[in-house]
Amino acid sequence: MELNFNKINVNVPGNNYEIQISAGGLESCLELILKTHSPDRLIVITDTNVAPLYLKYFPEQSSLPMHVITVPAGEATKSFDNFQNICEDILRFGVTRKSVLVALGGGVVGDLVGFVASTLLRGLRFVQVPTTLLAQVDSSVGGKTAINSKYGKNLVGAFHQPSLVIIDVLTCHTLAEADFIDGYAEILKYALIDDGDFFIWLNENLQAIQKRDPQFLQEAVHISCLKKVKYVEADEREQNVRALLNFGHTFGHAIESLSNFSISHGASVAIGMCMASEFSFSLGLVGEDVHRKILDHVGRARLPTRCAFSIQQMLPFMRKDKKVVSSDGLTLILLEDLGRAVVRSRLPEESLVRHFGSSDSQTSPLPQ
Ligand code: GLY
Repeated sequence: MELNFNKINVNVPGNNYEIQISAGGLESCLELILKTHSPDRLIVITDTNVAPLYLKYFPEQSSLPMHVITVPAGEATKSFDNFQNICEDILRFGVTRKSVLVALGGGVVGDLVGFVASTLLRGLRFVQVPTTLLAQVDSSVGGKTAINSKYGKNLVGAFHQPSLVIIDVLTCHTLAEADFIDGYAEILKYALIDDGDFFIWLNENLQAIQKRDPQFLQEAVHISCLKKVKYVEADEREQNVRALLNFGHTFGHAIESLSNFSISHGASVAIGMCMASEFSFSLGLVGEDVHRKILDHVGRARLPTRCAFSIQQMLPFMRKDKKVVSSDGLTLILLEDLGRAVVRSRLPEESLVRHFGSSDSQTSPLPQ
């Protein structure tokens, strides 16, 4: 069967690469990497969840030295220890500037391998093969790579663009429901910040996406990647507009941290987006109809709209983000309309406390 590939070109200073999106393209993934990169060695890094499912697409090659590294699945893997172990494992195997690393897995593997690729021999090519919805629509695109420190997530990292991104949406079929829904939160984010028509399309086709219909998934992932690329190309180093991609994330990161990461990233961002929407409504930036549509869609997507933490509990975590806090108040990404986000600075903390402070949980439901 002829595969339908969506291709997106990413152009950032000094880098030009392609994102290939398909339903079934994983089968020809190795062939594509070899054809486009002509590596002298290939190092595939994956995790214990993904290896049994998809490592089979990277069979040993008679003409090419290949090495596989399998790391434990989970956020704890993005550690200094693992970073060192992987670098030394690769150096032991042998590596040159003509070698290529492949990140086969979700965001944890992608972030870690990207960071290894950014430092080893002062920079190697690496191919992102994201196998979770979250990684397909967000972390595999745009070159943010990082590991965690005891002082926080993603605090040690680099901007290092991949040389190719290969997305096969059929890998979403093996995701647990919670992980799939988690990725959907980021798809919804693109609609809310950038494209009211995409929001309407998501509303109409939510069921097909939830059923993981390959055609609808491919379309949703394609549009999401186009959005992400637009912001990355305009502002690779997040000096201005790329910050809009953090819609819902300032509240979301506080919720993730307060829950000790038992509330997942997507769920936390969904609650954060509802809070940002509610705050936008309270400032008169959007009408009640817009806020109501967002809450309704988040609920239909089986994502949470509220959590048990108070704004007083959240503020210390929000203040940790240097980009969010300044002497004259907070900077938040808010909405001006469905599909139009805006950066709002100099927001006094008291305005958040005044709005959210009276209830024990965020966000407050709208009146019926
Ligand atoms: N995840 C947001 C960004 O890549 O900028």
